[in-house]
Parts: sequence; structure tokens; C-alpha cells
Amino acid sequence: MAREIKLLSGRSSRALLKDIQAYLGLEPVQHIVDRFADGEIRVQILENLRGEDVFIVQSTHPPADNLMELLLLIDAARRASAWRVTAVIPYFGYARQDRKDQPRVPISAKLVANLIERAGADRVLTVDLHSGQIQGFFDIPVDNLFSTPIFREYLGVLDPKKYMIVSPDIGGTKRSWAVARKLGNLPLAIIDKRRPAPNQAEVLNIIGDVAGKNLLIFDDIIDTGNTLVEAVQALRERGGHEITVCATHGLFSGDAPEKLSRLEVREIVVTDTVPVPPERRPRNTRVLPISPLLGEAIRNIHEDKSVSQLFI
Ligand code: R5P
Repeated sequence: MAREIKLLSGRSSRALLKDIQAYLGLEPVQHIVDRFADGEIRVQILENLRGEDVFIVQSTHPPADNLMELLLLIDAARRASAWRVTAVIPYFGYARQDRKDQPRVPISAKLVANLIERAGADRVLTVDLHSGQIQGFFDIPVDNLFSTPIFREYLGVLDPKKYMIVSPDIGGTKRSWAVARKLGNLPLAIIDKRRPAPNQAEVLNIIGDVAGKNLLIFDDIIDTGNTLVEAVQALRERGGHEITVCATHGLFSGDAPEKLSRLEVREIVVTDTVPVPPERRPRNTRVLPISPLLGEAIRNIHEDKSVSQLFI
């Protein structure tokens, strides 16, 4: 029997599901995700999935119901005798507590990995994990795509005499270095950032001479926007010229849209791994579609082709 790609999603990634379907030219699998009267989530798949190659698309940003929907959909597909179930998690939430760096804290990323695996996923496809080592929290294959090709297509190859990439913290150095290479071997500056408390940011130092350069800050997540506010101010004080902000996952929580709308930057560029309704987008925000990258990866996984050509 020729196995087919069967695509489903929870409610956090409905728009993305449609885009991936359109990219791959597939019809949606009929399924229900709604609630019982008390608020519990109810899932039902309305088509036969026996022996099929099932891909469940769901980002796991808050509320935790998004994660719960993913787990329930995986369980439903597994119990419907799918041949293989791939959890496609464009934004892997609960990733920021990924080690025991203080007393009495959970390793949330490991717990979530355990839940996804125990629910019955055979493999995971995700984009720009907060830290690459989260792949090792799973004992199933994890493909961690980089959004670099999407940004490179939008920004083009840039002149290293005029442009510089900025990593907003030491942890992001490796990712920023890879981006710098792909955008034309651009020089790299690194911000030495401290977090006095969760979601607060303080710039201590900037490594690299940013004076007179057009700067592209690359981060994985924009949450409160505090990292960016501090970064932009510090870069301006050191003579940075035009500043563009790029991030894979635009969460824009709390007052981030207002705060970031006041920032003097050329543009804020994010992808749609997390849905950002127009009213929650800061001024000057551009949202790039992630569906071509995910669509290609899904097709390659289904056809047993290499996915590594997408890791650029
Ligand atoms: C930090 O390690 C991440 O890479 C992001 O810089 C951070 O999550 C952004 O958070 P916020 O927008 O709240 O400063």
C-alpha cells in the first residue's frame, strides 16, 4: 500500500496547517478539536488513518492547552493505527528551563519531551529550538530546522563592509554566527547580557565595533521585548546606524507590541511559527511564512530523503 501524508493540527496552528496543505497540494484530514462543557479538550479524527504517515502540526506556546491538544492528537493518531506519527512543532514552548541552573527548578523542556514521546510520537520536526541540546531530551529522531533560509531569501546577501550581525546574548552566538556566514560572511557583534530576574534584561558590554554599521539583531524568541529594548539602546549609544530586528518566534507578550512599536528600528521581522494577530504586531513588523520550509521537510521525511539540506 502506498502510504500517504496525512496532515492535522491543533487550534494553535490552524493557519499554518492550511499553508502547508496548500504548499504540498494536499486535502485536510477531517478532525475535531473542541471542548466539553467543563472546558476539557475533546479530540476526534473523522477519517481512517490506519497505516498512514501522519504529521500533526501544533506550536506549544501558552496556554498549556496547546500542548495538551498536541498530546491528545498524537494519542488519537497512535490509537487509530497510524504507521508513523510526526509531531511538527514549529515553536517548541517550555524550552527556556532546559537545565537545573538554580535549586528547586524543573527541567521543563525534558518533561515536555517525555510527554510528547510517551503520547506516541515517532519523530519530531521543529524550528530553531531555544537550545540545540533539547534534541537529546528525546529518544526519537528530532529534526531541528533553522529559519535562516527564510530570512536569507527576504534579506538577500549583504555587504560585509556595511552590515553586521548582532547576537543579543552569548547563548545566541552560534546561531548568529551561522546567520552571518549565510548572509555574506558578515562580521559579528555579541551583546553580553545579564538577566537580573526572569524576563528582565541588562546589557553589560558589546563585543565588536558597531559604530557606523547597519545592524541586524538575530534572536530566537521575542517575548516581552525587554532584551531588544536594552539591545537597541546599547547599540545606538555605541554609534550603530540602521537597526533591523529578526527573530524566529514572535510571542509579543504583555505590552511588547506597544513597547516595540516605540523602538527606533527599520523593521521587526519574525516568522509565523506562532500566530501573531495583526493587532498584536508592533509597528513595522513583517511576518515571513515558515510553511515552505516545513512543507519541504515534511515531504522529505515522507519520501525518506535527507532533511539536512534544509539545515543551512
Ligand atoms: C533568551 O535567551 C532568548 O534567546 C531571547 O532573547 C529571550 O527569550 C527574549 O525574551 P524577552 O523578549 O522577554 O526579553
